[in-house]
Amino acid sequence: MNVIIGTMRNGTRATLRQPRLFTALASSMMQCSTQTNKPVVAAKMPFRVKVTGGKRYVWCACGHSKKQPFCDGAHRTKAPSISPRLFTPEKDSTLMLCACKQTKNAPYCDGTHFKVLFQDLVSSVKKVFKMNNV
Ligand code: FES
Repeated sequence: MNVIIGTMRNGTRATLRQPRLFTALASSMMQCSTQTNKPVVAAKMPFRVKVTGGKRYVWCACGHSKKQPFCDGAHRTKAPSISPRLFTPEKDSTLMLCACKQTKNAPYCDGTHFKVLFQDLVSSVKKVFKMNNV
């Protein structure tokens, strides 16, 4: 099966004779469009987590992990330019780990999530005013 991928100036058509190659190319293009280089907000409030002293943890910095606040490897496909942060607590404790992924003190919450909450509130109010044509 030939897949037409374009028409040349002289009228001939450029085709791709290997649909598998075309599928792989399309899949690769789709993946590129879903990748981000900015972290996404996993949650708008920090995670309260009990940690064990001396144990190594890997905090998700991209926000795509399904095992928040820890990394599950999702950054490899969804945000390859963002690396997770390794940390080892000195003693057993309960930590507030950032969930909004905007902190300047990763992996710990520094209160920046209030800014995220405020921005959401402002955009919600703007939508209400737009809906009512005010
Ligand atoms: S949850 Fe990100 S700074 Fe608090």
